[in-house]
Amino acid sequence: MRFDVVTLFPALFDVLLDQGVTGRALIRGVAELHLWNPRDFTRDRHRTVDDRPYGGGPGMLMKVEPLRDAIAAARAQAPQSRVAYLSPQGRVLDQAAMVELSRRPGWILVAGRYEGVDERLIEGHVDEEWSIGDYVLSGGELAAMVVMDAVTRLLPGALGHADSAAQDSHTDGLLDCPHYTRPPEIDGRRVPEVLIGGDHAAIARWRLQQALGQTYRRRPDLLERRGLNQHEQALLDE
Ligand code: ADE
Repeated sequence: MRFDVVTLFPALFDVLLDQGVTGRALIRGVAELHLWNPRDFTRDRHRTVDDRPYGGGPGMLMKVEPLRDAIAAARAQAPQSRVAYLSPQGRVLDQAAMVELSRRPGWILVAGRYEGVDERLIEGHVDEEWSIGDYVLSGGELAAMVVMDAVTRLLPGALGHADSAAQDSHTDGLLDCPHYTRPPEIDGRRVPEVLIGGDHAAIARWRLQQALGQTYRRRPDLLERRGLNQHEQALLDE
């Protein structure tokens, strides 16, 4: 997976480089990261990337030309990639969307700053617009990093354990079940007996039942959308 990120703050992406799942994926070549600063594509003495909005109003907007030229430079090196602009106006991403994204060869992620970008950049040079949730960040960089993290961990070879991503919360449309490690009892709280017994069918059944229960209590909206088969409904009713 090739990620190209267009950003005025490339240094922010250092946090992905040598730590955790993304760091390992980049070192192993499972993912690649290339950074493009629109300021490097300006032509004026002041290296201007922003300007005042037509019609008035607070704040500044990012100008078309430096972003357009940075995207074009990234596209020239990554012709197979699609261009995505991160913004609160975009389609809200969920785990199913992250799986879709992980199936493409690459993404050029455009991070906006200030009050946003000139609409003509989106119309003319962006393929998709995404949001990571209904709240407003100061820029698209954190959103781009969220996308990179969520997508990278889905790539073959990114996680230590081959099955880890398949067992994530949300992969099957449910929240995750609770997990426990040693010791078997701490501060008077015991690990559920079934997990210690070694009966793998019983453990799988318990985990599914817990996941169904957690989702029913905390996120009924997810169950509403997903539906339940007879077996799941019976487990939930127990
Ligand atoms: N930029 C600012 N807020 C954002 C959000 N919620 N999602 C994606 N990009 C953003």
